[in-house]
Amino acid sequence: MVERDRLIAALEDATHASSIHNSQPWRFRLVEGGVAVHLDPTVTPRTVDPVGRWALASIGAVVANLELALTSRTGRAVVTEITLGDSIPEAADLAGGAAYGEGPLAVITLGEAAETTTAMTAARLHGAIKERHTTRGPLLGGPPTEEEWAELQAAVAWAPGIQATPASEPLVRSLLSLTARAEDARQEDEDYLEEIQNWVENEAPSGTGIPRGAIGAPDAEGHVPIRDFTQTPMGSSGDGEAVFFEDPPALLVLHAASDTPVDQLRAGYAMQRAMLEATALGLGIGVLGQALEEPDSRAAVDGAAEESFGAPVVVHQILRLGHPAGTITYAATPRRPVTDLILD
Ligand SMILES: Cc1cc2nc3c(=O)[nH]c(=O)nc-3n(C[C@H](O)[C@H](O)[C@H](O)COP(=O)(O)O)c2cc1C
Repeated sequence: MVERDRLIAALEDATHASSIHNSQPWRFRLVEGGVAVHLDPTVTPRTVDPVGRWALASIGAVVANLELALTSRTGRAVVTEITLGDSIPEAADLAGGAAYGEGPLAVITLGEAAETTTAMTAARLHGAIKERHTTRGPLLGGPPTEEEWAELQAAVAWAPGIQATPASEPLVRSLLSLTARAEDARQEDEDYLEEIQNWVENEAPSGTGIPRGAIGAPDAEGHVPIRDFTQTPMGSSGDGEAVFFEDPPALLVLHAASDTPVDQLRAGYAMQRAMLEATALGLGIGVLGQALEEPDSRAAVDGAAEESFGAPVVVHQILRLGHPAGTITYAATPRRPVTDLILD
């Protein structure tokens, strides 16, 4: 029997996971031998997430952290059962994951004492949980080395069915152009801009959202279309000066053979593992997800990836990686107190 305090400490660690617009849609229930993870779709952004894939990915991210924290804090191996159904529900309302709000999406159970290598990996990545941040600034210190790409791919391989492929230069060009186009379209969408405004700094519900210091500055040459959090329905609220980004950026494509809800959750798990590995390696890691949010744009991304890889794939996330030129100082993003997230 693991004492409650240790479980709560692991849950607190887990809440430092990445989530869409820092909405932290996870809720936890302590169950016999472990923890059940639920989604609260009443707190998720909807316009940015029309089919709920980012809500499920956020749950996957917290599951990744929770596994590592539980093993590191208890010395025991974990078994995770994804209890989410395999097919996309027919419910009309998928936006923000509304259709997935019933019942747990994953149950993590503590098992026997962890093997040495599992315990060592868990300890190393557990140590990175609170150091990890989403990078939105330039990474001018060079791309990952061959060995670092291999470590990142191994981190992603923890998620069954999800693969990671570094994008070739032609694919990087296609992905950047599709992302820039998607970002431009977003800037014409009032609902989207209003939603962004609601998740930035003081407008976001307490303990969530993206502080102004974390939204980054635009690329002076426009090569790297990071998501723009400065535009509001009233116009730009940005005061950050543009800065020079790396050109070309190094991109890692997370992909799978299919696009089931389980794949979507596991892609978020894989992304979180990759982010922790990147942090442990001293790499910066950012997300370029805009082109994956609307069907036409998604199809174009999948098409570009198929042309590059020579086989059909479903792209689940696009990550930007690289070494920073110096030390990056990150503005901490807030988190809700863990006690508010535990269901009775
Ligand atoms: C599924 C998912 C999609 C995301 N998409 C983007 C994105 O397109 N652009 C971006 O800058 N950050 C993106 N993020 C990062 C979140 O904004 C970030 O995790 C959150 O604000 C908390 O900050 P932190 O990661 O620094 O702790 C995404 C995160 C998740 C889990």
